Amino acid sequence: MTTFAPPAGPVTGALPLPVRRRPGFSLEGPFYTSAEIFAEDIDRVFSSQWIFAGTEAEIPRTGDYLTVTFGHQSVIVIRDGDDVRAMHNVCRHRGTRLLDETCGTVGNIVCGYHKWTYRTNGELMFAPAQPPNFDKTCFALRSVHVRSLDGLIFICLAADPPADIDTVAGLVSPYLAPHGLKNAKVAARSEIVEHGNWKLVMENNRECYHCDNHPELICTFFPTYGYEPDEIPPNLLPAYDRFLAAENDLHAKCDAAGLPYEAIEELDGRDVGFRIQRESLDGAGESFSADGSAVCRRSLGGFTDKRLGRLSMHVQPNFWSHVLSDHAVVFSVLPLTVSTTVVRTTWLVDAEAEEGIDYDLDELTTVWNHTNEQDGEIVARAQLGVSSPAYEPGPYAPSEYQVEKFCSWYIDAMNAGEPRPEPAGRSTGESG
Ligand code: FES
Ligand SMILES: [Fe+2]
Repeated sequence: MTTFAPPAGPVTGALPLPVRRRPGFSLEGPFYTSAEIFAEDIDRVFSSQWIFAGTEAEIPRTGDYLTVTFGHQSVIVIRDGDDVRAMHNVCRHRGTRLLDETCGTVGNIVCGYHKWTYRTNGELMFAPAQPPNFDKTCFALRSVHVRSLDGLIFICLAADPPADIDTVAGLVSPYLAPHGLKNAKVAARSEIVEHGNWKLVMENNRECYHCDNHPELICTFFPTYGYEPDEIPPNLLPAYDRFLAAENDLHAKCDAAGLPYEAIEELDGRDVGFRIQRESLDGAGESFSADGSAVCRRSLGGFTDKRLGRLSMHVQPNFWSHVLSDHAVVFSVLPLTVSTTVVRTTWLVDAEAEEGIDYDLDELTTVWNHTNEQDGEIVARAQLGVSSPAYEPGPYAPSEYQVEKFCSWYIDAMNAGEPRPEPAGRSTGESG
């Protein structure tokens, strides 16, 4: 039994519950239902680790922005010339939330309350009716660390962010860079609210044990995903033979083109837990569609060969993506409340691709729209179950090893993260 809250060690704040984790088993119920643990998740995990925020393709011009909201935190990610900047979505006057939309474009950032106005770099440029000695330079928006990994934007609210983002950026760049995500364009976005704790959303994504629930996805997604070769169930052996043949073909092509494909899997044991691998797709092997053929005529990255499988990447705690020869689909998971979670999906295509000519929006989005909807139903049922007093943690199957890795990473992050600040009036430190 692993103790979640050791009495000594890196955890310095008072944790709300004496909850534990048994390796190889799902988490105990309070991890999914306790408002106190949810608050710790926001502070120790989402406010301490690197979080996926969106893509550069979503904010191509100065003033284009995204808002990234989780729990009580909200961050603006905005294009400012060649830079991507991130800043707290909190006015420096009296704290009002500045931007409400999930994305949009502004000339400057104007607070709706008293019209304090900020440049796209966060500087305060205008504050009406202040005294002559008012120093605007003291009231820039509070900045947040931001880092683009070949067009994938990550933010970190910690004062001292985990430094291994540099190592991970170097490891994944040879995989991502050839696809030119920075220069892609947004073809579609969706945002759904799933009725489950954010960890159920992530755990569900980390295994394909449940993929029979996804008839559209498994047209092209090999059902042997996550199994070790000697663990393939007999009913999946024909699919495994098909997978091996497709893998051989893909590896030969990638070797010739200089594209990396080997898995790098460091999902726990480091701050920026991640996994990246290029794997073959079933059917025509080109894209997510009923027969595996491409759903956009223009390739993403200028490839002439469409049969490049899926470059799949996961980053703890809230990101997964698939980059194909013709489009990319990226996901971010943002905790809203203890039992509701936003899942954002963004489909990217080549910047020159035109809707109605190069791609049909329904064809492009149908697989993951269906898959998201199916996963949302699964997560809602899971939340209902783990909320029952009858729930007790159950054992993971071998093919759920990435769920185990997610939980292991999560527990480490909870122990290492910044504790919640003491509520005002209860501080044991000095006060004025
Ligand atoms: S709270 Fe923003 S201008 Fe007053
Ligand atoms: Fe799923």
